[in-house]
Amino acid sequence: MNWRALFKPSVKYSILALLVVGVVVGVVGYFATQQTLHATSSDEFCMSCHSNHSLKDEVLASAHGGGRAGVTVQCQDCHLPHNPIEYMIKKIIVSKDLYGFLTIDGFNTQEWLDENRKEQAEHALKYFRATDSANCQHCHTRIYENQPDTMKKMAKRMHERNFKKEADKRKTCVDCHKGVAHVYPKG
Ligand code: HEC
Ligand code: HEC
Ligand code: HEC
Ligand code: HEC
Repeated sequence: MNWRALFKPSVKYSILALLVVGVVVGVVGYFATQQTLHATSSDEFCMSCHSNHSLKDEVLASAHGGGRAGVTVQCQDCHLPHNPIEYMIKKIIVSKDLYGFLTIDGFNTQEWLDENRKEQAEHALKYFRATDSANCQHCHTRIYENQPDTMKKMAKRMHERNFKKEADKRKTCVDCHKGVAHVYPKG
């Protein structure tokens, strides 16, 4: 290849100029996507479809709502992956909910949530089980080892006993802890 050709005009623009434009468009596109992903991950965004559901109030009333430590855990902290590629994939899966939102009769009513809570909770739990509750472990880093002195003896014992098991026999956080942010349906 003759590198000087890069700097010569092509038909109208030099190939270099075209490359520069290409890179600029790519970078702008990348950040625009980041912005969109960011905007689509706020609690407000989640609640724009779930606006008549008690989900946010439930979080606020739970240990994850800023009680003792003053931390309010966001929907995405628990429900969306941190790894960017998995994040994109999960986003695409979630985008089916746009279809659901438009087609499910009475979706955005508290009655719908109450009636379908069990089934919806099962869907949500599938994600946590498939990822070994990675979202929980992202914050709760001292459950199995190097536990704080303040952890209750019973909790420490249960956690240690679970951790001693072989990896495939181990329970994941949500197997033992249900309803940490919402009202887990009984029955
Ligand atoms: C476009 C509307 C819309 C938006 C925005 C939305 N949801 Fe949903 N969500 C739905 C619908 C519809 C369902 C029920 C899907 C079904 O049963 O087919 C649902 C179900 C769920 C479920 C239970 C089922 C599952 O797949 O796990 C969870 C958890 C959930 N949403 C969390 C969230 C979070 C977190 C956000 C913000 C990042 C969010 N939703 C934003 C419409 C939406
Ligand atoms: C963004 C960080 C964050 C994420 C994600 C998170 N937690 Fe927490 N969790 C906290 C904080 C902060 C507290 C309150 C700390 C305290 O009181 O010592 C807490 C408290 C708890 C408690 C104690 C509840 C109580 O009644 O005292 C349990 C159990 C728990 N979390 C389990 C989970 C599980 C299971 C998940 C995943 C589904 C999860 N957490 C996700 C930060 C997080
Ligand atoms: C085998 C069941 C089991 C598993 C698995 C498990 N826990 Fe626990 N956990 C318990 C029990 C039992 C307690 C004590 C219950 C209580 O005090 O209400 C507890 C207590 C806790 C507490 C409160 C500790 C304290 O005393 O301050 C937190 C936070 C917690 N678990 C988070 C987690 C997280 C995050 C995971 C996953 C990494 C996890 N647990 C896995 C059974 C389990
Ligand atoms: C601390 C982690 C955590 C936070 C924060 C959280 N969720 Fe959840 N969510 C869960 C878990 C775990 C489940 C599975 C069912 C259960 O254990 O209650 C669930 C279940 C759900 C479901 C299925 C219906 C149900 O009640 O089980 C929906 C919908 C949902 N979450 C939406 C949201 C929205 C919207 C927000 C933000 C306002 C949010 N969640 C915040 C952990 C969380």
